[in-house]
Amino acid sequence: MIVPGSATQVLATELAATTGDDIANVTFKTFPDGERYVQVDDVADHTVIVSSTVSDGAHIELLQLQDAVREAGASEITTVIPYLGYARQDTAFEAGEPVSARAMARALSTGTDRVITVNPHEVAVCDFFDVPTTAVDAAGQLAEPLPTLSDPLFLAPDAGATALAQTVRDAYGEGETDHFEKTRHSGDTVEIEPSDATVADRDIVLVDDIIATGSTMSESVAVLTERGAAEIYVSCIHPLLARNAYTKLVQAGVTHIYGTDTIERPVSAVSVAPTLAAEI
Ligand code: R5P
Repeated sequence: MIVPGSATQVLATELAATTGDDIANVTFKTFPDGERYVQVDDVADHTVIVSSTVSDGAHIELLQLQDAVREAGASEITTVIPYLGYARQDTAFEAGEPVSARAMARALSTGTDRVITVNPHEVAVCDFFDVPTTAVDAAGQLAEPLPTLSDPLFLAPDAGATALAQTVRDAYGEGETDHFEKTRHSGDTVEIEPSDATVADRDIVLVDDIIATGSTMSESVAVLTERGAAEIYVSCIHPLLARNAYTKLVQAGVTHIYGTDTIERPVSAVSVAPTLAAEI
């Protein structure tokens, strides 16, 4: 039995179709005081909850789903968190700060026997959970929507995304891999320092784990456009696209944006359901 979170209904349904499991009907409501309510119509002995924690409300809802499923009699609960919110706050960067990823992981561990997530910002975040936790890698699937490319360069906007870019390149089957350097000045201000790689007249596939404000990608696209790149494809695992990110990318000249359905957005062209089904 698969139980979907309210923000992850498309992926949960796709996963159920892939595994052949039934999907539960869940009622979602909000009380006048803003508190959330869920009711799950059916559970199985082994129940899989699928819910991306895309917002604070989604965190609360997931805790409620876990409790509801246990209360209804499930003896084994697998919690699939395709997009793990707060994962980038994985250390106390300054005195007085929380390790928010750890706080969320501890809370979510109490209601499950196992956790599966998809490409967290750092795999080490899995260690914050008190139950067995696996991070699956869906990066190779980002090659699926790419057309035939001309002399492609698979480019990470910062060194941290180099492995992702390499995985997409390997899945595509040809091309070079390189990375830019990024300095983040604030939540939505970044500075990109390009590499020496030749980009003129080449098709470029920019690959990152997440597009949040879109600053990283739009600044990278500006550099590439100035240097005469041919087509630029922007791809990411988690298309969070917060605030005006989508508009920012379009204004930067991006015409091809591909993300997965860990977060359900219009650009979610790739489903991670097969990758998750193989792990469940
Ligand atoms: C950070 O290192 C991540 O890999 C992403 O590059 C970052 O979170 C993207 O954020 P934004 O879209 O706000 O620039």
